[in-house]
Amino acid sequence: MANPAARVEVRRGALRPGGIIGRMAITLKTAEELQGMRIAGRLASEVLDLLAEHVKPGITTDQLDAIAHQHITQVQGAVPAPLNYAPPGYTPYPKSICTSVNHQVCHGIPNERALKNGDIVNIDVTVIKDGWHGDTSRMFIVGEGSIAAKRLCALTYEAMWKGIVMVRPGARLGDIGHAIQRFAEGQGFSIVREFCGHGIGQKFHEEPQVLHYGRPGTLEELVPGMVFTIEPMINAGRREIRELGDGWTIVTRDRSLSAQWEHTVAVTETGYEVLTLSAGSPAVPAFVGAPAAQTPAPATLAG
Ligand code: MF3
Ligand code: CO
Ligand code: CO
Repeated sequence: MANPAARVEVRRGALRPGGIIGRMAITLKTAEELQGMRIAGRLASEVLDLLAEHVKPGITTDQLDAIAHQHITQVQGAVPAPLNYAPPGYTPYPKSICTSVNHQVCHGIPNERALKNGDIVNIDVTVIKDGWHGDTSRMFIVGEGSIAAKRLCALTYEAMWKGIVMVRPGARLGDIGHAIQRFAEGQGFSIVREFCGHGIGQKFHEEPQVLHYGRPGTLEELVPGMVFTIEPMINAGRREIRELGDGWTIVTRDRSLSAQWEHTVAVTETGYEVLTLSAGSPAVPAFVGAPAAQTPAPATLAG
């Protein structure tokens, strides 16, 4: 999200890093806790794998919500975190996933309208398993997409990864935001400022706020055990947004298309680990090397 603290700031007319969640300490996850988060993360991603088979012209976002709800609760033995989620200043969220179509930026509420050929839709899934949250979203193109729609979705995916590859101990949150901003704005797109990534663990939204714009070398220093989301929202037109009367849905003011991708990422001793991967996760962009954490240790002479 799109973190709710940020929305409160929108209403005050300014985004201040900190906000409501900013008063909590950043929780560092132990090896055992990370194991719990890996499981939750993979389950969230597997819900997207399942939904991918169903995103076709004619299906309603309510139907997608029902498929996800049934799978999370009956197959995964998990809880859909959005359902009845009510951060300060919000009414309880009424569905189990978020579906944001075309000019909707985030927090779109599933409804009875059918997706049609050429729509783009972000599906955002958060599950709670054994108390741990996994939060991830992908873009889907319904049927045949326009060149502009495909380009926005692909570029936003790359922008997310530009941020992810910055993650390592000693880097700072400003490095992540800067990498995303530089890339997306360099391609002529704009970054939504009012919503950001967030720490995550036993809570859905924790400190820190992870802005998708910023200056290198600024803000919190990353240390092993931190877990947070990176989830840039990128608009084809201007960056300004507005909230619909339902109290949740965010749209672009100029009604231009908007895209978002999200992963939950842990800071490791040597780099990063993406926790929200599964069999259906799209291939990583070519500029992403093997994560340091997964680089095999040099062979020893023994044996
Ligand atoms: N999954 C969103 C995020 O990435 C949060 C959605 S809050 C909800 O942070 F209530 F709308 F589900
Ligand atoms: Co999130
Ligand atoms: Co999310």
